[in-house]
Amino acid sequence: MTQDELKLAVAQAAIAYVVEGEIVGVGTGSTANFFIDELAKIKHKVKAAVASSEATAARLRGHGITVLDLNEVTSMPVYVDGADEITAQGAMIKGGGAALTREKIVASVAQKFICIADGSKLVQLLGKFPLPVEVIPMAHAVVARKLNSLGGEARLRLKDGQPLLTDNGNMILDVHGLQIADPQALEATINNIVGVVTVGLFAKQGADVCLLGTSEGVKTLVF
Ligand code: 5RP
Repeated sequence: MTQDELKLAVAQAAIAYVVEGEIVGVGTGSTANFFIDELAKIKHKVKAAVASSEATAARLRGHGITVLDLNEVTSMPVYVDGADEITAQGAMIKGGGAALTREKIVASVAQKFICIADGSKLVQLLGKFPLPVEVIPMAHAVVARKLNSLGGEARLRLKDGQPLLTDNGNMILDVHGLQIADPQALEATINNIVGVVTVGLFAKQGADVCLLGTSEGVKTLVF
């Protein structure tokens, strides 16, 4: 099976977790896009969606799905999103699509985080994928020095030769070379650096379920 076929398979499996008549939180990225396209087929069964990025909001609206501002929402049974890496304990690295802050905010409102990922994302140790950190632009150099002192090598993410700006108008530092043995501790440490908006470690509140696409079918990991 191709990676896209695996992503489609987990996106289809995630539809079973969508609660009829309720609001669904929707992540960002290529796997989340497959999920949005599947959600469109049952859109009459959901009340509305909350998006974790402008790109996701546009795709949802393109399918005629109502997108609500998170401030209007108090209850959300599930949030469905991909991951860049996930451990067998449900801790994740996210932010490859630069949407980590909004993803973490929307996920914090949901009762359950359903991670959808192809099998290549399951790792024993987080950190081979560079850890994204969203930073306030005026602080990117000082934050980079502090991240380097933790043992990584922070590089400013660029787009067309310029610093990439997130939907929130901030920048992303990608930290290379980390071996993250204690994801919860590192999440707290990096979130405490002044100038950091969010770190793309989702460990304190990780996934509740991971639907993992493999050549033997979709495996369900429950944490
Ligand atoms: C975006 C994310 C994505 O969920 C993550 O990058 C995985 O993306 P994809 O499904 O394209 O592999 O965190 O900020």
